[in-house]
Amino acid sequence: MLVVHSKEELAEQLVEWRGHDEHVALVPTMGNLHKGHLSLVRLAREHAERVVVSVFVNPTQFGEGEDYESYPRTLERDKRLLRKTPADLVFAPGVETMYPSGLEMATTVSVPGLTENFCGASRPGHFDGVTTVVARLFAMVRPDVAVFGQKDYQQQLVIRHMVDDLNLPVAVITGETVREDDGLAMSSRNAYLTDDERAVAPQLHETLATIGGELQNGRRNFEDLEEEAVSRLASAGFDVDYFAIRRAQNLESPDRDCDDLVLLAAARLGKARLIDNIVVTI
Ligand code: PAF
Repeated sequence: MLVVHSKEELAEQLVEWRGHDEHVALVPTMGNLHKGHLSLVRLAREHAERVVVSVFVNPTQFGEGEDYESYPRTLERDKRLLRKTPADLVFAPGVETMYPSGLEMATTVSVPGLTENFCGASRPGHFDGVTTVVARLFAMVRPDVAVFGQKDYQQQLVIRHMVDDLNLPVAVITGETVREDDGLAMSSRNAYLTDDERAVAPQLHETLATIGGELQNGRRNFEDLEEEAVSRLASAGFDVDYFAIRRAQNLESPDRDCDDLVLLAAARLGKARLIDNIVVTI
């Protein structure tokens, strides 16, 4: 497995692979990898002969007071995991490689509409940072396929929209959320949970599953169901950011006949902001 830090080294390897007509899949990450990331790397392998994993803690997607400085940077461990999985190449650029004009002068890619609610409302500017860095990674790697996790449901919809709207020649694939045995979605930020908070955390997924079950049983009073979920989570000790039932395709409000729904939730437990979702097809 190659590890490169510059776009020139990356380009050199890509030219060689393309010379052999090999397809390239990209799995963008911020490192501190867990089983969820590794499942995306394995999924990438099903779609291309070569798999590139980028490891870059992207400053432009963190808001003021968020955890950019303290976000765990564990490249040596990440490389060990990726060697075993395996990936073919790790691209671990510095900030100056990803933003050569500096952060202030960086060209920004922004997707309106889809980014206004949910995580976009709670984390202003977050999705601009995500689409900007993903567009830059796409320009450097020029992948045939790019893989994102369903756990960041809104993010993968935003990226799909960017790809369609800019006509970028990349197929976006979404990999299933990987969960701990008790249902908690794997996330680098779970490490922020204390033991007591960790014991409560699975209730986020349990609540999504319970409300999903109510929908499967025919309930369609979406607002009541959202309120029930929020009060259940608040009683368990979560500081609820949002719990929403939306159209899976575009996050718009559903009507009673909509049969593809996504249930989205974000809630804080102490220092950790947890997000999760489930898709319910009726
Ligand atoms: O999902 C993430 O880890 C990040 O938002 C991404 C897609 C790697 C962009 O920095």
